[in-house]
Amino acid sequence: SLKTTLGDYRFDNVFMNASGVHCETAAELDEVAASPAGTLVTKTGTLQPRSGNPEPRFAVLELGTINSMGLPNQGVDYYLAYAEQFQAQHPEQPIFLSVAGMQPSDFPVLAQKIQDSGFTGLTEFNLSCPNVPGKPQIAYDLATTAEILTAIFTAFKKPAGVKLPPYFDLAQFDQVAAILNRYPLTFINSINSRGNGLWIDPETDTTTIRPKGGFGGIGGQYAKPVALANVRAFRQRLRADIGIIGTGGVTTGRDAYELILCGANLVSLGSVLATEGVGAFSRLTTELKAEMAKKGYSRVDEFRGQLNTL
Ligand code: DHB
Repeated sequence: SLKTTLGDYRFDNVFMNASGVHCETAAELDEVAASPAGTLVTKTGTLQPRSGNPEPRFAVLELGTINSMGLPNQGVDYYLAYAEQFQAQHPEQPIFLSVAGMQPSDFPVLAQKIQDSGFTGLTEFNLSCPNVPGKPQIAYDLATTAEILTAIFTAFKKPAGVKLPPYFDLAQFDQVAAILNRYPLTFINSINSRGNGLWIDPETDTTTIRPKGGFGGIGGQYAKPVALANVRAFRQRLRADIGIIGTGGVTTGRDAYELILCGANLVSLGSVLATEGVGAFSRLTTELKAEMAKKGYSRVDEFRGQLNTL
């Protein structure tokens, strides 16, 4: 079985979508919900709806994807309404609401709105969108990150987590984890796309996406070793009660197995879901079960975090 838990919540399958992929409209969210996925997350909602960056803003590459979407979304009220309706229809099926501010002061406003709503699922505060021109990824600025978390948790008493960008230095993991451990987080989600990569079309010597001169977030197989390292490094540093959603570079059941070995409670699908569609959930469910059977495991908690080192 692929049953798993995060905080006090239970899920029948470790797989879910990554925010931004297959979750901008109610129709897309319904398709994820109807798949074998254990849960789903909405597109990151902002206080006001946004149309996002100019197209083309997403491309499939040799071993992954590049995107500079720019937070196109229907607005937080749309996703909050979807989530409240969903939970009324599926009382046993907790889901995730992803939200982000366009400026730090939006975060407590979003937190208060969700706090005052009937939403009973988990909220993912996205601190790592790499694609809005002129707006840095918040979670690379540790002082601002701490200020935003303080403001969020002043208003917010429901289960919450943060979506983090990839970090690359062990000292950064120490610094970020020390901050996160001060707050009543239920989970982190690691990693968001590797920000500001570049892909060039060899025929035309031209970038593949239009926004920001072609720079965009990289996902897929390019991201996998970075995702494994981030999940592992945070699992070694965070309070034991903070769960981890592992995201980044999963294209096979073996990839998901490895994220769980590093400590992931749930595994989310970004690029592979964008390129393969919701059929990826049944394929990966079958492949992960086969990998576990090969290793003699029947439940994910038998090997979660059990990575061997030399
Ligand atoms: C977008 C991309 C991200 O990786 C993210 O976390 C949030 C938003 C985007 O460009 O829409």
